[in-house]
Amino acid sequence: MTRKKLLVTGGAGFIGGNFVQYMVNKYPQYDIYNLDLLTYAGDLTKHKEIQEKDNYFFVKADIADRETILNLFEKEQFDYVIHFAAESHVDRSITDPEVFVRTNVMGTQVLLDAARLNNITKFVHVSTDEVYGELDFNPTTFFTEETPLQPNSPYSASKASSDLLVRAYHETFGLPVNITRCSNNYGPYHFPEKLIPLTISRVLNDEKVPVYGDGKNIRDWLHVLDHCAAIDLVMHEGINGEVYNVGGHNERTNLEVVKTIISTLGKSEDLIEFVKDRLGHDKRYAIDPTKLENLGWKPTYTFETGIAQTIQWYLDNKEWWEQIISGEYQNYFQNQYSLK
Ligand code: NAD
Ligand code: TYD
Repeated sequence: MTRKKLLVTGGAGFIGGNFVQYMVNKYPQYDIYNLDLLTYAGDLTKHKEIQEKDNYFFVKADIADRETILNLFEKEQFDYVIHFAAESHVDRSITDPEVFVRTNVMGTQVLLDAARLNNITKFVHVSTDEVYGELDFNPTTFFTEETPLQPNSPYSASKASSDLLVRAYHETFGLPVNITRCSNNYGPYHFPEKLIPLTISRVLNDEKVPVYGDGKNIRDWLHVLDHCAAIDLVMHEGINGEVYNVGGHNERTNLEVVKTIISTLGKSEDLIEFVKDRLGHDKRYAIDPTKLENLGWKPTYTFETGIAQTIQWYLDNKEWWEQIISGEYQNYFQNQYSLK
């Protein structure tokens, strides 16, 4: 039997990185190609335990570089494409939207062209629940796959645009696609510009934690390994053309999340500093995962077990995040926040 070839884009980032490790270890019979541009968010040190394995390969490339991508697809004849590569941070999309359109929209379109010209088995496009816009605080309302797309930030608008292109390539060219839309992920190797790793790293250094507005905005937290299992399932069992929402009913206000981390680490809530609200700050995200559950997915982490595991991981892997926050990140942090 010939070996299956998987192209994972963005496999040096947070979720793509966890997915690459999960797949390399779970499927020795698959060859896993990690394609990544290694932007500020990409880092290969996380892969030191798999980089010598026979079924792992790395390609440094830009998904928006048409010639390179078309040549690669023609040469390798991938069976599956799992597309994570993106600019992913809402705050950065507010200060510099252009690169979000280039990577998230144009890059996705290049990959779709390459996929359709080379007979792939499946193209899984990893998207976000943020394309649905925001919910109010009524706890009985959820995003379903039928919720209209109403993105509010340049980031979510660029992701929604890419979702529409993926859908169109299925309708027009019959490309075998799935779109997954997940809630906020957390877990190992989460880049410390996002709320949970930013809070853990700053609390461990006894530094102030910036909470936007009144801290009452709600996010629905999903452990990254539960997300990886969901994508594995969709890739193998998803019905072509379908969208699947991924989330585990773990809604928390931002203030609850920050207070949980502070108390787990035995520090004082005086570290919390309320700062100017994010522009266009979405109030609440919450996923109805019934469709994916009907396909056979069930999360294994509650927020309590997941956050405890994640905090322990950051305690055990200080070297990884200290190396990140000592570099270019310092400039980003100074420009983004005016904390004492
Ligand atoms: P990330 O920012 O940690 O990683 C993105 C990766 O993409 C990096 O390794 C980066 O180097 C790479 N990349 C960026 N531009 C590229 C380009 N032009 N060519 C090739 N590689 C490029 O992001 P993440 O948090 O791991 O998110 C992965 C995907 O999941 C994204 O598509 C994002 O929209 C989606 N998503 C994330 C979350 C979340 O909570 N983090 C939630 C829902 C959906
Ligand atoms: P974030 O981790 O950036 O993810 P997203 O914007 O994709 O949901 O933010 C999660 C929530 O935390 C969001 O409501 C914004 C808030 N937040 C803060 O209060 N302070 C911060 O420093 C950051 C980065 C986020």
